[in-house]
Amino acid sequence: MPAQNVADSTLAWDASAVWHPYTQMLTAPPPLAIARGEGAWLVAEDGRRYLDAISSWWVTLHGHAEPRIAAAIARQAAELEQVIFAGCTHRPAAALAERLRRRLPAGLERLFFSDNGSTAVEVAIKLALQYWHNLGYPQRRKIVALEHAYHGDTFAAMAAGAPSPFTAAFAAWSLPVERAPAAYCYRCPLGLRRDACSIDCLSGLEALLAADAGEEIAAVLVEPLLQGAGGMIVHPVEFLQGVRRLCDRYGVPLIADEVLTGFGRPGKMFACELAGVAPDLICLSKGLTGGFLPLAVTAATARIYQAFLSRDRRKTFFHGHSFTANPLGCAAALASLEIFESEPVFERIARIAAVHAERLPALAAHPRVGDARQLGTVAAIELAEGAGDYLAGIGPRLQAFYLERGVLLRPLGGVIYVLPPYCIQPGELHRVWDVVAESLDRII
Ligand SMILES: Cc1ncc(COP(=O)(O)O)c(C=O)c1O
Repeated sequence: MPAQNVADSTLAWDASAVWHPYTQMLTAPPPLAIARGEGAWLVAEDGRRYLDAISSWWVTLHGHAEPRIAAAIARQAAELEQVIFAGCTHRPAAALAERLRRRLPAGLERLFFSDNGSTAVEVAIKLALQYWHNLGYPQRRKIVALEHAYHGDTFAAMAAGAPSPFTAAFAAWSLPVERAPAAYCYRCPLGLRRDACSIDCLSGLEALLAADAGEEIAAVLVEPLLQGAGGMIVHPVEFLQGVRRLCDRYGVPLIADEVLTGFGRPGKMFACELAGVAPDLICLSKGLTGGFLPLAVTAATARIYQAFLSRDRRKTFFHGHSFTANPLGCAAALASLEIFESEPVFERIARIAAVHAERLPALAAHPRVGDARQLGTVAAIELAEGAGDYLAGIGPRLQAFYLERGVLLRPLGGVIYVLPPYCIQPGELHRVWDVVAESLDRII
């Protein structure tokens, strides 16, 4: 690209006018000015190249600027870029809903579109609350969520997330949420050793559901198998299966927040599929469009949907966004599903999982590492000291070290995780792990 005057540069304009997410603007280093994406790589304006080992906040699936998705969006933009979705429909949305429905865990039949992961969760919570309201049980308005949970930054999603520095300023506005233990095996909530575990941590959820006896709890909300922002915590499949059993026993809908885990990350299309579990509501976003555009889906069972069908218009789900089911996003999502069907995406996923599995044992043995864990394409190591503190200075120091070596990683406090796009080559992924290994000896 042509040389820029310093005063007209991206970084100068950014510094004078932009407010970045999850960024302390006083102390954060200047952002990378990224000009292009190519597969697993990001290319900065100054020509430096960075291997995107976190899929740009967990969204990029097949690679940056993937040509088939880019072309699908361009074609769609030339035909219909946007239309109101109340009273109108369009081919990309209808086709996507139909196609996705066939891939979802059994029983999820109705798809409600929104824009991002937080709104997908917000919609699921509102659907669960209004489901009970429409059935004549308005007192059922509590959500059960897990310790260490993260579900997004809008108010209901934030309330369902575990208290953290992210949510402290808004605690007074919280919704009624009950918190159940998560299967964080490294820090077992019951203090048990792994070889003594029979998923006893489920007893916390069972106690809540039993005590409630169908009075106030409207739904149980979980990130299935993998709690992302809480520290890339991997649960045994038996935990999710147990949550489903308890929800069935106590007649409470289960919401699976697959915003992160959807679309292949766990090694299957969905974490619920891996565990053989069918939720009552599922939340999808991030990888839905291959990571190209903001789009989300909340899918519901027929039973939930039917509670909204009435001649009484007050039972309508009065929720929608200006860009609900935006045609460009739907076209991107269809193109991404097409890639799943026409290319060996699950072979690529298995290759990533194999490299992670090959590298983790040596990292786990490092004296600074407390735990190493993996779910399919997602792998993490947790430092033995200071990992629980998101605000600890170690995270930014590690990140700077990785960037100097051309690798984009963003540790969650002292949890260093790798979550690459599926097009990454084994040699590139080994390079990421080499840099992580080096950091353990070099960064205090
Ligand atoms: C499990 C989960 N749910 C919801 C969200 C919120 O998604 P978004 O950032 O698109 O609002 C995230 C984001 O990281 C997530 O990991």
